[in-house]
Amino acid sequence: MIPLFQSGRDRIVLVIAVAAAAVMTATVAAAQNLDAGKPAAKLFAEGCATCHRSPRGLAKGRFSLTLTWFLKDHYATSADSAKSLAAYLQSVDEPPPRTAVRPKKPARPAPRPAKPVQSQ
Ligand code: HEC
Repeated sequence: MIPLFQSGRDRIVLVIAVAAAAVMTATVAAAQNLDAGKPAAKLFAEGCATCHRSPRGLAKGRFSLTLTWFLKDHYATSADSAKSLAAYLQSVDEPPPRTAVRPKKPARPAPRPAKPVQSQ
């Protein structure tokens, strides 16, 4: 009687352990997939915008590979979301200065017409 009871309890413990393991595995899997399939703009808004007000100017003309590595390294995003974030940052980034065509403007407008300076 007692051995039977014990093995029954063992079975219950085993079932609970397996159930707990299954639940934990499911939770981990869900956590990993949380970001999957989200558009990069949304990823940025949820995960990055608290510190970076704008996605512009973050890529700084980097190569997408190094940018992806940086994002994966620093922000522990999955390889997929790091890649799409990198592509997103690049797509909204300002062009690098050497290709930027900016009209030349005076550094600051003169507050009032300058007096003609004449040396006599
Ligand atoms: C807790 C605040 C915080 C969050 C959240 C955050 N960052 Fe950052 N990030 C920083 C800081 C601080 C730096 C360093 C700034 C620097 O060096 O100019 C940085 C640097 C960067 C850089 C490099 C910029 C550079 O000047 O070289 C990139 C790219 C970047 N973050 C992208 C992201 C992305 C994408 C996310 C969302 C997944 C994110 N960050 C989330 C704080 C944050």
